[in-house]
Amino acid sequence: MEVRAEFGKFYDVEADALVVTIYEGEKANEGALRELDERTGGIVSEMLGSDEMRGKQGDMVYIHRPGNLRAARLLLVGAGKREEFSLDTIRKVTASAARFLRGKGARSMAALRRSQLDLGKSAQAAVEGVLVGLFEPDMYKTENKEERRIDELVLVSAAAGSENELANGVERGRIIGEAVNLARELSNEPSSTLTPSELAERAKETASKFGLDIDTLDEARMKDLGMGALLGVARGSDEPAKLVVLRYTGNEADQDVIAIVGKGITFDSGGISIKPAEGMEKMKYDMSGAAATLAAMRAIAQLKPKVNVIGLMPTTENMPSGRAYKPGDVLRAMSGKTIEVINTDAEGRLILADAISYARKLGATRIIDLATLTGAVSIALGTVNVAILGNNQAFTNQVRAAAKEVGERFWELPMDDEYRDMIKSDIADIKNSGGRNAGTITAAYFLREFAEDTPWVHLDIAGTAWENDRKPYAAKGPTGVAIRTLINYVCHHAAKA
Ligand code: BES
Ligand code: MN
Ligand code: ZN
Repeated sequence: MEVRAEFGKFYDVEADALVVTIYEGEKANEGALRELDERTGGIVSEMLGSDEMRGKQGDMVYIHRPGNLRAARLLLVGAGKREEFSLDTIRKVTASAARFLRGKGARSMAALRRSQLDLGKSAQAAVEGVLVGLFEPDMYKTENKEERRIDELVLVSAAAGSENELANGVERGRIIGEAVNLARELSNEPSSTLTPSELAERAKETASKFGLDIDTLDEARMKDLGMGALLGVARGSDEPAKLVVLRYTGNEADQDVIAIVGKGITFDSGGISIKPAEGMEKMKYDMSGAAATLAAMRAIAQLKPKVNVIGLMPTTENMPSGRAYKPGDVLRAMSGKTIEVINTDAEGRLILADAISYARKLGATRIIDLATLTGAVSIALGTVNVAILGNNQAFTNQVRAAAKEVGERFWELPMDDEYRDMIKSDIADIKNSGGRNAGTITAAYFLREFAEDTPWVHLDIAGTAWENDRKPYAAKGPTGVAIRTLINYVCHHAAKA
């Protein structure tokens, strides 16, 4: 998609459609709206007085031949309360408008800037909104496919401003939007094509294209390192496991290394503790943490913050077979800890345990892991909030703040010592399941044992990485959740250092 920015009058903009946001309860009696009303022969004031357009988020009025405008169509979009208008509103509104207009066959869309929010950030949010909004998970459809596309976005600002700021915002928006969609594509890919080896291959392509260092460990190297937990899970699969390590060095002089560790189960059948058939097809997205890691690393390589980041993607299938690990087995993790396997479906924490230990070995001074780790997180928070837990309150707060700033919703769960008791094993150092109660917390506690004294934050994205309902601003399917937060956190960290 081409993105163009113009400082000038909205009525001079050439596009298939001009998008104008309307605040709740707004009248067409001043500024741009009055001008728009005059140019359209009073259509706008007529609409604003009607039930069709109350300015609520989601309201939309599509106007053909809107009088004296260069654009062929006018789309009024409700933006909600003016006091609550934020970058997130921009993302949602531009996404909804883009999806709507694509459905009408528009190829170019112009969006008028109406708020006083920062110019660069507004442009970034608009570009992110359109790119992320237009994503469709229909790559395997041969019929009824969404073939129409919007290939031009024009950002229109009446007040003069810095061209540079605008261009930077557009560029950041594009980098981040494309990263989010890369992860969504990977999550959507069937496990028969996106095997652990293929995921490693895609990581390699991304690394060479964007200038990241990469080292992919095969099973022999994992064995040398003593990664018995990751290898234990991999045993049931005919596909060889991989541990992909991406490295971005933005500040040679800095000792600090942020590690992002993402769960990369390309298919989770549950293993010997096999899952019920219903819904199992969705378990192809159990690598969404790894996809987010790759996406964030790619964006970081492009944005070039002055900070050091490593991205780890432990990846394997979780399958039942005559060679599969079994309940009752004891695995020895790289850290030396022994793990009693209670349930082979609690595999994510096992592969993450070794990846977290390896991140520490590589010099990580802060670790963020993210994983579609527990069904319990959907029971607690639905598809709305990511669960965040950690061993260092200051660090957790920084990640929460980074999420809030980009409009992603994270909710912190508690980590009282008593939860540790729930994963005590009678025969080994720890067991891999604490049962149904507090499932998200006991899973996090398990990981915490492997983070040891390194500041660590865990994000459980099992509920949020896949959206089951279509939204005006998004297709149903993979969401790419948490990627924008990771990027924002890393960039903030660089700015402070
Ligand atoms: N990948 C699943 C978690 C999951 C469930 C993600 C549903 C998305 C939707 C994970 O590996 C798993 O199976 N967790 C078990 C843990 C239990 C056996 C302790 C769970 O949540 O049931
Ligand atoms: Mn599982
Ligand atoms: Zn899983």
